[in-house]
Amino acid sequence: MSFNKNLINSFVNITSKAAISCFKYLGKNDKNLADKAATDEMRKNLNLLDIDGKVVIGEGELDEAPMLYIGEKLGTGNGPRLDIAVDPLEGTNFAAKNLPGALSVMAVSKKGDLFHAPETYMNKLAVSADVPFDATDLDFDIEKNVKNIADSKKKELNQITICVLDRPRHADIIEKLKKIHVNVKLITDGDVSGALLVTNKKYNVDAYFGIGGGPEGVLAASALDAYNCKFQGRFLFETDEDKKRAKNMGITDLNKKYDLKDIVKGDSIFCATGITKNEHVNGVILNEGKFITETLVTCKNTLINVVKKEVPAT
Ligand code: FBP
Repeated sequence: MSFNKNLINSFVNITSKAAISCFKYLGKNDKNLADKAATDEMRKNLNLLDIDGKVVIGEGELDEAPMLYIGEKLGTGNGPRLDIAVDPLEGTNFAAKNLPGALSVMAVSKKGDLFHAPETYMNKLAVSADVPFDATDLDFDIEKNVKNIADSKKKELNQITICVLDRPRHADIIEKLKKIHVNVKLITDGDVSGALLVTNKKYNVDAYFGIGGGPEGVLAASALDAYNCKFQGRFLFETDEDKKRAKNMGITDLNKKYDLKDIVKGDSIFCATGITKNEHVNGVILNEGKFITETLVTCKNTLINVVKKEVPAT
């Protein structure tokens, strides 16, 4: 399925509006308030669209009674059947502290084409498009992955940069990379953006490794598909509750390693509007009575663009 321009534009408008709704909460040190504003705005606008949509990645599950829960129906019901992954505010800490890196993110596919994922952690790997597919794997040790990346790029290990979320659980990876003189780019949050750093040489990041949110992994995979980059993920189901949820969603092999093509089957639209500035897009700016937003929008084989919108501040 390829998506028509109007539909793509509707989704860009929605992440833009969700981003704008956070603007007044930036730096207010209340991540829940900012998250709620973005979620309410995204949900309200998705429900106005002539689509027959369903949330496959959302803000939680029905028993937690959130908005945009996994399985929630969206839209008027008249229109294309779509699966929708949402993260209305990715980087809640960034928004609460008014720091760079907060995004409003959505990915959309035709029904059945986006992975239906529970809210658990995922071990992830994202690699730039110039590295052969088989050179990296979640089952290789970190040293082998990095050496293969360096060999395929004809670089020394000290010319390779790996992006990792700065968490105690990654101390071992970080230590191993340091030992072999690989450069590490540590991010404090926001691993959708972190994974997307492999999409362009200007970011000087060869790969993203480590454990972060599963939903963020699926969203990043949708964008990485358009850049022909590699993505692989393995969910981590730690508690009995996690395992039960996975089974309820039809996941039978809890240790399965998912390649990008298992996560995003056909084409998908990916939209990420900057709430605060990051490497990919500017944040929301209020200028002369207008909000100005920037959205990274991708569709495999057809579109990679940054779209600017101006919305009157009423
Ligand atoms: P939120 O926007 O939900 O706060 O998520 C931010 C984030 O950094 C994600 O990008 C990442 O996948 C996840 O948190 C990592 O989780 P944790 O902070 O528990 O390590």
